[in-house]
Amino acid sequence: MKQHDQLGLTEESVQMLLMQRADLRVKVDLTISRLLLKIFPEKPVRKFIFKTVLPLYYKVGLKPLIRRYMSSCEIDFQNLKPHLDINKLECKILDIGAGFSGISVFLFHFLGKKTKFCLLDRDSVTADWKIGYHHDANSFSSYNSFPLVKIFLKASGLHHNNVKTIDINKQPFPENAKFDIVISLLSMGYHYPIDVYADGIRKTTNKGAKIFLDLRDGYYNLAEVENVLNAKATLIKTSKNSKRYLLIRI
Ligand SMILES: C[S@@+](CC[C@H](N)C(=O)[O-])C[C@H]1O[C@@H](n2cnc3c(N)ncnc32)[C@H](O)[C@@H]1O
Repeated sequence: MKQHDQLGLTEESVQMLLMQRADLRVKVDLTISRLLLKIFPEKPVRKFIFKTVLPLYYKVGLKPLIRRYMSSCEIDFQNLKPHLDINKLECKILDIGAGFSGISVFLFHFLGKKTKFCLLDRDSVTADWKIGYHHDANSFSSYNSFPLVKIFLKASGLHHNNVKTIDINKQPFPENAKFDIVISLLSMGYHYPIDVYADGIRKTTNKGAKIFLDLRDGYYNLAEVENVLNAKATLIKTSKNSKRYLLIRI
C-alpha cells in the first residue's frame, strides 16, 4: 500500500484528514499550536501561525500524517477482521459517514477485488468544527470531499467501479440496494443518532448481514438499538468514550 506516498493530496485534504480522527488532530494540530501560542501570545503572531506556519507544517508533515491516519484505520480493520467472511464472493459494503474512507483500502485488499463500496457522507465542509454528540444530525459538522476521497482510493488500488458515493445532502439513501456489511465508525451513533439511517439499514440488509457501529457512551440504549435495527449485538471493542458493536441482522 505504498501508493499513498505518491499521492499529491492538497492542503485541503490534510485538513480533512485531521478532522476525520481526533487522535490525528490532537497530536499534530493542538500540541503545536498550543506551544506556539504560549510562546507568541500576540494577535498578529497568532494570525501568522494559523495562516502560514501551520499550513506549511501540514504540507511538510503530510506523508507522516497519511501514515498515521492509515495505521489508525488499520487498527480498526484488525478489530473487524475476525468478523469478516473472506469466502463471500462479492461483498457489498455500505459505509455511513465514510469520511476519507481509509478502512475501505484494508477491507478491499482483504476481501478481494469483487468487493463493492457504497460510501455515504455529506460531501461538504461546514464552517465550524463541532465535536461530541448531536441529537439533531443536521446540526453536526460535515467534513468530507468525495473528489479527494476518490483520488485517495484510486491511488490505493480501488478501481472507480468498486466505489459508489452518496452525498446525502443531495442524493437519497440507496434504498433499493442490498448490503452484506454496514459500517459506521465514529459517525452514526457516535456523533448523531442512529435513527437517521435505521430504517434505511433495515430495508437494505437481510438476515445475517453485519452492522459495525461505534456507539457513544451515555447516548444509547443497546436493547433499543437492537430493536430498531432488528439485530443482535456483540461488543467487539471498548474505547475511552464509546463502544463498538457488531450487530447481526435477525
Ligand atoms: C469522525 S468522521 C469519521 C470518518 C470515518 N468513518 C472514519 O472512521 O475515519 C465523521 C464523518 O461523519 C460525517 N457525517 C457528519 N454528519 C453526517 C450525516 N448526517 N450523515 C452521514 N455522515 C455524516 C462527516 O462528514 C465525517 O466524514
